Amino acid sequence: MSESDSPKSAGEDVARRVLILFAHPALEKSRVNRRLIDAVRQLPGVTFHDLYEAYPNFMIRVEREQELLEQHDVVVMQHPLFWYSTPALFKEWQDLVLEHGWAYGSQGRALHGKLLLSAITTGGREAAYCAEGMNRYTIRQLLAPIEQTTRLCGMRYLPPFAVHGSHAMPEQTIEAHARDYRRVIEALRDDLLPLESTQGLRRLNLDLESLLGAQHAQ
Ligand SMILES: Cc1cc2nc3c(=O)[nH]c(=O)nc-3n(C[C@H](O)[C@H](O)[C@H](O)COP(=O)(O)O)c2cc1C
Repeated sequence: MSESDSPKSAGEDVARRVLILFAHPALEKSRVNRRLIDAVRQLPGVTFHDLYEAYPNFMIRVEREQELLEQHDVVVMQHPLFWYSTPALFKEWQDLVLEHGWAYGSQGRALHGKLLLSAITTGGREAAYCAEGMNRYTIRQLLAPIEQTTRLCGMRYLPPFAVHGSHAMPEQTIEAHARDYRRVIEALRDDLLPLESTQGLRRLNLDLESLLGAQHAQ
């Protein structure tokens, strides 16, 4: 049985149990996502689940995925941006796992009240992700299908944790993003993220000092 067949348990002694669903079809070539996952995968209270490792043939075990979701309070969808969207396996995962009568519909309440965070890396620089830029939309705007899916399922959507400009990124900048990612995951787990203050942000990691500092001051 591979590690992803039975992801490491999140444990019980935390404010919120965090499930990181990770999708990268070529992890051996990754520079940025690899470092981000290294920063969080062993954290207490965090379950790390590598979808391409678990399902290299796209044969998703729907009941297993639904059980995992039910066991956690925060769901993180981490992946590189591919064609302004998710890698293909994540789309398959959504199509199969988020069933009517379970995730949505009058009887579908399994995900109600859980938090959802997208953690995204992009090759394009942040300046290209705006109305005047080459990509014409912000990353948050491009993730509207995920935001709306989240809301349809009764979940609470957070602005994305976004790392732009991955191709030319110096090592120390990658390290800084990995530290920020760890802070965000820990704050979510420990219920230290001021959720109301995040709602208008185009990305969650715009100014973490103010965001997390404000919480400590309360
Ligand atoms: C098939 C494919 C599609 C991609 N589409 C986009 C895109 O739409 N926008 C973008 O900014 N980068 C795009 N990229 C670049 C990836 O987002 C980038 O390589 C990744 O974020 C780097 O993360 P890593 O170091 O973990 O692999 C694409 C890359 C591939 C292979």
